[in-house]
Amino acid sequence: MLTNWAPSVYSRLSLCEGRQHDPETTVSISQDFRIHDFDRRVCRICAELWLIDVKEINRLQHIAVDKSRLHIPILFGFDVIHGYRTVFPVPLGMASSWDPSVEEQAQRLAGQDARAAGIQWTFTPMVDIARDARWGRIVEGAGEDPYLGAAMAMAQVRGFQGATLGPDSVLACVKHYAGYGAAEGGRDYDSSYIPEELFRNVYLPPFHAAAMQGAGSFMSAYMDLNDVPASGNQWLLTDILRGDLGFKGFVVSDAFAVASLVTHGYAADPSDAAYKAVTAGLDMDMASGTYTNNLPKLVADGKVSQAQLDAAVLPILAIKYQLGLFDHPFTDESKVESTLSRPEGLALERKLAARSMVLLRNENKTLPLSKSLKKVAVIGPLADSKSDIEGGWTVEGLFGSGSKSHPVTVLAGIKSALGADAQVTYVVGPDPSKVYLGLLDQLSGKKVLPAPTAAETADWLAKVKAAAADADVVVAVMGETSGMSSESASRAGMELPGMQQQMLEETAQSGKPVVLVLENGRPLDIHWAAEHVPAILESWFPGTEGGNAVADILFGDVNPGGKLPVSWPRTAGQEPLYYNHNLTHEPEDRPSFASRYWDIKSTPLYPFGYGLSYASFKFDNLKLSKANMKTDEATEVSVDVTNTGAVAGDAVGQLYIHQRSGSASRPVRELKGFKRIALKPGETQTLKFTLGQHQLQFWSPQTKVWAVEPSTFDVWAGDDSAAKLHSEFSVAQ
Ligand code: NOJ
Repeated sequence: MLTNWAPSVYSRLSLCEGRQHDPETTVSISQDFRIHDFDRRVCRICAELWLIDVKEINRLQHIAVDKSRLHIPILFGFDVIHGYRTVFPVPLGMASSWDPSVEEQAQRLAGQDARAAGIQWTFTPMVDIARDARWGRIVEGAGEDPYLGAAMAMAQVRGFQGATLGPDSVLACVKHYAGYGAAEGGRDYDSSYIPEELFRNVYLPPFHAAAMQGAGSFMSAYMDLNDVPASGNQWLLTDILRGDLGFKGFVVSDAFAVASLVTHGYAADPSDAAYKAVTAGLDMDMASGTYTNNLPKLVADGKVSQAQLDAAVLPILAIKYQLGLFDHPFTDESKVESTLSRPEGLALERKLAARSMVLLRNENKTLPLSKSLKKVAVIGPLADSKSDIEGGWTVEGLFGSGSKSHPVTVLAGIKSALGADAQVTYVVGPDPSKVYLGLLDQLSGKKVLPAPTAAETADWLAKVKAAAADADVVVAVMGETSGMSSESASRAGMELPGMQQQMLEETAQSGKPVVLVLENGRPLDIHWAAEHVPAILESWFPGTEGGNAVADILFGDVNPGGKLPVSWPRTAGQEPLYYNHNLTHEPEDRPSFASRYWDIKSTPLYPFGYGLSYASFKFDNLKLSKANMKTDEATEVSVDVTNTGAVAGDAVGQLYIHQRSGSASRPVRELKGFKRIALKPGETQTLKFTLGQHQLQFWSPQTKVWAVEPSTFDVWAGDDSAAKLHSEFSVAQ
């Protein structure tokens, strides 16, 4: 079994919690929120986290509802990130669908499952913009773009909460507010330094969109934002969130973020940390116990007023009412298993997983493969790894007694697509995470897990060579183990870990068609493969039915239509890399100074928005309803998309703008509209987009307001951020 680091992170968390085991008096792991009664009884628990044993959930709920003074039910929260029993693609994968309904459908099913299993609150969606793929948590978000990120954030909130919060909803928690994805050097938890204009124009919009969609809770981030920790930052938690964004729900800290105010050197001691957090606008301390231990005295001493505490508690109580907890606090234990194992969940997962995959390369129409292939060699450590195909943050895998799902690996998916007559040879190779575990252990001085020896390496390569020589087609399934892109799991290099690169190069020597299927939570350094491997399919961590979904694409039952939600670097040294950067004095499309590096081009290997199909598409007839308009007007943009290929397929029409002049330099391109459509061969559809105040305004560092400014604007439409079809319009005061 390959290494998944997440469980060890979590056993660490549980240890730190100081969970108390007297069932009648336990305060358990969550913060205690009571303002009227500070004794240590469960009646005062606001919320209980990281518990999925439904019997235990009901038992605790009975104590709260039947025996407590105020009979206030507990809100049970858990990280239901991309599915409960049925695990959907990781969020970066779902964002690659460029279809918000994928996120909405997945999270609706996940929410129904969670609610049936006694969970009413999920710590999802993560809407952090990630411009640096070294950052391990890029896997949990929608990538680098605020417009795409906002659409995906709203879809997830709709999926969990429905149109409004009600007895069937799961409360969404939008995280990590805010700027967490800008960690310096891509090192998780590191400080973020974000100028206000960048913060408002790029990092804030997905949070704003989620608040507009009615998200009931936000989670404050761990890190320092411009030297003021997010969890004690009044500007962030009150001025922006309650003021500018009009947020009416409650804010919970990330797990130990309140205690960490001391670690950051921002608070003098835990009492000061509680004071700074609660007065900044942080309503709930998730797990550090700092509120529990210090608020009583702060209130008694008059440093925190009763009104301040009421302001923190009331939105939580209101949400418990909205969720129907006062009327129906208990979970029907008889329905849990039948709900979690609904077969429609698996069918949906397979469909959404295939919709989330991105075809990066397909030379000489290597794909789709024929189903009558007789001999296939499958190579690589991820090809049959059940513990990796679902990605990290799986509910039952994390805190349950182990995953109860039955994930379909890529090897299993290929075998089932080809049937028993085909010969499928498998060469696993060594666990790619060993090389890192070795390094970590070197640092900590503990016993190391050795990387393969020279003799083992030679042996694996000989096996690869023999399997490839005997096959009609080679499918290499490579990438990262699921724990390599996760919390506290950043990478300085982005190469294929372990000896996967050597194994891949060995397959290419065979002269057989090679298909590389990637399983990973971030873009990887595949510059060699991008030249030498004819077909590359990005499957991310595709979930429970992932192997079947990969096979659906490999054998042409599904035509891939996903697009990259991130700019794909040539190598890690380019990070941070994002398409919506400003123009320099020597733009890269000029002949001189075209690249800033000696050794590689400055441009990405694959641009943001990129992805191939078995069909081909033509974009033309780009028209604007107005070529000149006023700042309070809008222009309608239309563009024709035609399927010029021989098979039906999905195109994603993308609209980008650039403001040529104004009170600040504006990005070279910004996404302002997108739509995924299905087209039959020869079919044309006209896509329409609006460019008005919402799309054209920005927050200027000079005027310090959101406004549409007079300027000429460029417009491009096409199927990625390098689209060439161009028009322009002017905006006057
Ligand atoms: C810490 C993580 O940063 C956050 O994303 C998660 O929701 C909480 N722990 C709770 O598990």
